[in-house]
Amino acid sequence: MGKSRWLIWAIIACVLASSSARELKLFKHKMGHESDYNHTLATILVEYASAVYVTDMTQLFTWTCSRCNGLIKEFEIIELVVDIQHCLQSFVGVAKDLNAIVIAFRGTQEHSIMNWIEDLYWKQLDLNYPGMSDAMVHRGFYYAYHNTTLRPAILNAIKRAKECYGDIPIMVTGHSMGGAMAAFCGIDLKVNHEARNVQVMTFGQPRIGNAVFASYYSKLVPNTIRVTNEHDIVPHLPPYYPYFPQKTYHHFPREVWLYNIGLGSLVYNIEKVCDGSGEDPSCSRSVTGTSISDHLVYYGVALMSGEPGTCRIVMDPPVVDYGTTDLGGNFILSRNPATPVIKLNTESDTGGKNV
Ligand SMILES: *[C@@H]1O[C@H](CO)[C@@H](O)[C@H](O)[C@H]1NC(C)=O
Ligand SMILES: *[C@@H]1O[C@H](CO)[C@@H](O)[C@H](O)[C@H]1NC(C)=O
Repeated sequence: MGKSRWLIWAIIACVLASSSARELKLFKHKMGHESDYNHTLATILVEYASAVYVTDMTQLFTWTCSRCNGLIKEFEIIELVVDIQHCLQSFVGVAKDLNAIVIAFRGTQEHSIMNWIEDLYWKQLDLNYPGMSDAMVHRGFYYAYHNTTLRPAILNAIKRAKECYGDIPIMVTGHSMGGAMAAFCGIDLKVNHEARNVQVMTFGQPRIGNAVFASYYSKLVPNTIRVTNEHDIVPHLPPYYPYFPQKTYHHFPREVWLYNIGLGSLVYNIEKVCDGSGEDPSCSRSVTGTSISDHLVYYGVALMSGEPGTCRIVMDPPVVDYGTTDLGGNFILSRNPATPVIKLNTESDTGGKNV
């Protein structure tokens, strides 16, 4: 009797000790993790991810677009790249207030966002990520960054920015497919360009590779936040099959899932920092991905452009002088970061010409 009671106490003590040790470890892990989520930074970077959708090159290059106002108005753009052949767009510049180089990638401008999303169901893991055995990724996303006019232009702009501002941190962002490209850019800077301080934050990003890739990725770019929103369908694609976690697409960490809970007339916005697995079952995976509208607005900021389906760009004569165009019609607007920012004079502000 006395003996069995002692045994029970011993078991309880053991359970308590091991569970408190486990909590302690989790706590420590969370505190020490490089990718600690910063809400303020997220609300700033989402505005860059929104601005890169602007199709008026003059407004974007002179940083006068309405989306360029708000929290990001202190930005100095250095390079604006438009790959007309693949309908891609990106910019690089320096955010003086963050003391960082910011790179933003536009998401898809395909005719119908619905078609683009349907296609995502069928994307194959069809490319070995170079130099990483067993790491597989989706070829289309990989090549959108690696095999277009974007990458060389971006690398060149980073080099020029560093010559002027020193080795300041680099923040890479993008929404939807732009998030996929931001991730490939972040890992490229770490692996191939010896960048030391690279931070990636994506919004509504699809899966881009398998579990092996996700594991390499999170070691190389630990300072990554992948924001998902409510029932946004895109982060659920291409599908993840829990029964074959090694064989299928697998997100990298760290997810932050935004959702609302309503209590009577009160609605709370929750920002849940998820576990380090990349596929936390208690985050966006706990709901079905059924919403396109949840894909289009993050932190109250509209992403995508007002006119989907256009690769058309608008450019005024004063900024044409800053541009170069290649044989494919792709072009780059570029300025020397050491020179004053471009000011528009108002007469040339009108009469934008389609290029
Ligand atoms: C969060 O980010 C903002 C903007 O970069 C910065 O000013 C602030 O210090 C950061 N907060 C923490 C706790 O790091
Ligand atoms: C890479 O780009 C070049 C030029 O646009 C193209 O000819 C080539 O097929 C592309 N490679 C792949 C694998 O997509």
